[in-house]
Amino acid sequence: MYEATEHLPESCVLVIFGASGDLTARKIVPALFNLTAEGRLPHRFHIVGYSRSDFPTDSFRKHMRVSLETHSRITPGEHPDALERLLENTIYCRGDYSSTSDLTALRKTLESLDKPSGSPQNRLFYFAVPPETAADLVSRLQESKLLERRAPEDAEKKGFHRVVMEKPFGHDLDSARALNAGLLKGLEENQIYRIDHYLGKETVQNIMVLRFANSIFEPVWNNRYVQNVHITVAESDGVGNRAKYFDSAGALRDVMQNHVLQLLALFAMEPPTGMNAASVRSEKAKLLGALSPLSDEELRCAVIRGQYSAGNVGGKKAVAYRSEKGIAPDSRTETFAAIRAYINNWRWSGVPFYLSTGKRLVRKLTEVAIEFKKVPHNLFAPYGSEDPAPNMLKIQVQPEERIALRIASKSPGLKMNLSAVDMELPYSSRFSSQSPEAYERLILDAIAGDPSLFASSEEIRLAWKYVMPIIEYWKNQPDPAFPNYQAGSWGPIEGKNFFREDVCYAELGKG
Ligand code: BG6
Repeated sequence: MYEATEHLPESCVLVIFGASGDLTARKIVPALFNLTAEGRLPHRFHIVGYSRSDFPTDSFRKHMRVSLETHSRITPGEHPDALERLLENTIYCRGDYSSTSDLTALRKTLESLDKPSGSPQNRLFYFAVPPETAADLVSRLQESKLLERRAPEDAEKKGFHRVVMEKPFGHDLDSARALNAGLLKGLEENQIYRIDHYLGKETVQNIMVLRFANSIFEPVWNNRYVQNVHITVAESDGVGNRAKYFDSAGALRDVMQNHVLQLLALFAMEPPTGMNAASVRSEKAKLLGALSPLSDEELRCAVIRGQYSAGNVGGKKAVAYRSEKGIAPDSRTETFAAIRAYINNWRWSGVPFYLSTGKRLVRKLTEVAIEFKKVPHNLFAPYGSEDPAPNMLKIQVQPEERIALRIASKSPGLKMNLSAVDMELPYSSRFSSQSPEAYERLILDAIAGDPSLFASSEEIRLAWKYVMPIIEYWKNQPDPAFPNYQAGSWGPIEGKNFFREDVCYAELGKG
């Protein structure tokens, strides 16, 4: 992991496959604009949008302008020069992903962009396309001589050719393996950047700083001091206009397998030997490999799923999942998933990790909350004081970026009354600069050639391996009795017990 701007090449062409899609409009184009406005992109930078939709470059630029109005962190009107520069350096090519002749035409366009500079041809191909298209697209790009297998030493001389892969990275363990094998047929591992945008979020990166740049946390980061850990990715939104994709995926595949397990890996991994991609990824993979496989009994009572009924979210009416546009009225897809996970290693043995994610919950909240063990003895009991509340450390990623430490304190007064108080560090009031969006960080890192904040194929494999028994178990269960939670609630009612480690865990004979 290094300062991306120090390693930026002089020039680069970014080709976005899937340029007319939602992700390009909501995330990629705003990230590129923000980077332009802050002067962070290479000196000569071109964007080429490519998709099957037929429209001229002017319409594509207009479409970019409109999406920036809604989705950009930095207001485009405040940086008119940057906006014009970005649009001027953008062109659009219509083409099919499987057509070698369309891709050959694209190659000629890229060559004409490279020519005036005469510098190495650095190309970043952003695959914002469904995973089933990806492996074939790599082959077609190679046939069209757009993309070459390049070892790092070749890339230095001839320029780099890199591929950024969007999630979902497969639909299950087998398809993820097949996709990876397909990509590696044509590319070196170091040419593939698999995005998990949670790794680009500012507070997520701060988990490593908190752990490894402070001496007070690491000594208590283990089963001697930690009672349990909650990792929550709660969303108030529903499926939006991604009904078709989400209904075939569900919350377990969509968020748990990637974002939640990546948060867990960063939180719980051993200290890496350096902040470089190889060390960090290797520690994360070791952690994911140490997740305790879920037994049949645990699948029955340490995992829950849910689907929302109609309700009220943030004062607005929300329809039931099964009534959402594009969702079948008898859909069995889960919109909520929770796992009580354990890690089989020296540091974490016996500590429950409550992992949960869901849509249409009370509010958006992404948080890692660590509950520490209670003090061994309540010295203040003779004064009528109840047991002090356990210490909690909360790392909130969204909607606000903040860190809070809960401590017991004496309430002012003549009596020895204790109360729990939170020492809070909200980023917005402590730091004057705005946090960059995750995609800004990640696109810049891919251009600079730093894969530290991208998931390795091994991490992806191990994460799929962990969730596969759940997928199988749910598939073979009869009717899941959906819907089982109201939109605007905190999820299925069984969650209440689930989040108490004594319930059901004792039933398993481990309590
Ligand atoms: C995506 C999922 O990866 O992450 C979406 O496909 C989810 O379903 C989104 O809404 C959440 O991302 P963020 O950054 O809004 O928390």
